[in-house]
Amino acid sequence: MKKIKLNLNSRSYFIYIGRNALNSLGGILDGLNIGSDAFVITNDKIKRLHSGKLEKVLKKSGYSVKYKMIQDSERAKAASVCIEILNKIALYDRKKRVFIIAFGGGVIGDTAGFVASVYRRGVPYIQIPTTLLSQLDSAIGGKVAIDLAVGKNLAGSFYQPRAVLSDISLLESLPFPEIRNGLAEAVKYGIIKDPALFTYLEKNYKKAFKFDPDFLARVICKCSKIKAGAVEKDERDKKDIRIMLNYGHTIGHAIESAGNYKTYVHGEAVGIGMLVEALLSYKLDLITEQNLLRIERVLENMGLPTRIKNLNLSKILKAQDHDKKIISGVNRFVLPTKIGSFKVCENIPRSLIEASLKERTA
Ligand SMILES: NC(=O)c1ccc[n+]([C@@H]2O[C@H](COP(=O)([O-])OP(=O)(O)OC[C@H]3O[C@@H](n4cnc5c(N)ncnc54)[C@H](O)[C@@H]3O)[C@@H](O)[C@H]2O)c1
Ligand SMILES: [Zn+2]
Repeated sequence: MKKIKLNLNSRSYFIYIGRNALNSLGGILDGLNIGSDAFVITNDKIKRLHSGKLEKVLKKSGYSVKYKMIQDSERAKAASVCIEILNKIALYDRKKRVFIIAFGGGVIGDTAGFVASVYRRGVPYIQIPTTLLSQLDSAIGGKVAIDLAVGKNLAGSFYQPRAVLSDISLLESLPFPEIRNGLAEAVKYGIIKDPALFTYLEKNYKKAFKFDPDFLARVICKCSKIKAGAVEKDERDKKDIRIMLNYGHTIGHAIESAGNYKTYVHGEAVGIGMLVEALLSYKLDLITEQNLLRIERVLENMGLPTRIKNLNLSKILKAQDHDKKIISGVNRFVLPTKIGSFKVCENIPRSLIEASLKERTA
């Protein structure tokens, strides 16, 4: 099992990555002295598939276990769902020794982390991500949030988990689209920070669909290290470091929201977002055509959508106006300058954004 430390003084924690990482959960919890009552937030599908292993480890180590199932969709990231969860925890938490386990993909991780941050002004939580996307990205870094009617992730905070346990064997039940979803975020890390990772993905991406444990461990470790490094230097997203992780997300979030979180899943929307934003970069003379084509090819090979279908352009532009990075009407984009580096650009003309979106519309 690999162990990566995320250094944040008193809020430091380890990210454990390995084929049977879950077997080590008891020892990890004991070491953290985290409480006695595990409140596991998950959904029906994940509980059916994987809770046996989790429950066995927890009970063997003397922890009590209570499950709270939430709906299986982005719609679970809602205030009403959080209130329901909070009421359930309060009933369970008689000894005031509760800790939360987020057992699922990014939707569960974001929601459970948000609940952990507000219940009794903050109780400890552990991330046990079960999708490729959440193992290599969303479970790390403590950005917890729920969605509002106006836009995604608009109500949230920074609240770090006490540990992240990425058990690669949990990924074997993932459907193919969810593997692609995670690969899109891995490509993001390659484009903004790690040309060797990008080349490795170009050559080896097919191994993901065979659940090759060495490939998965390598990619999850590389991405986790990049994310941990960015979070250590810029936990609260204030220094133009952590912002790099937003590459593809300005347009990606607008596409997700315009499609009501149904037309495209997060990774797909981010894939198209990366292409539209690379096109913006090309139009601004920041990136070569060759690199633009490399980005397009790798996403296409992975089977990710590279063109926007069934979405109204004006709806996407309207959704983009609500981007959190827009301050006093000035937009901000993370644009790639080559494979492995980026520039933060402000005030990109709306006409250029519209033209790039149009070019990538089928
Ligand atoms: N906090 C952050 O820093 C951050 C970063 C990136 C993305 N996100 C958020 O993450 C969310 C997307 O996460 P996601 O892509 O993991 O989606 P998800 O949580 O919706 O999971 C995708 C699907 O896979 C299923 N699933 C999960 N684990 C499974 C398993 N082991 N086997 C079979 N099926 C399984 C889920 O039930 C769901 O249907 C978005 O809400 C996004 O905003 C947050
Ligand atoms: Zn993302």
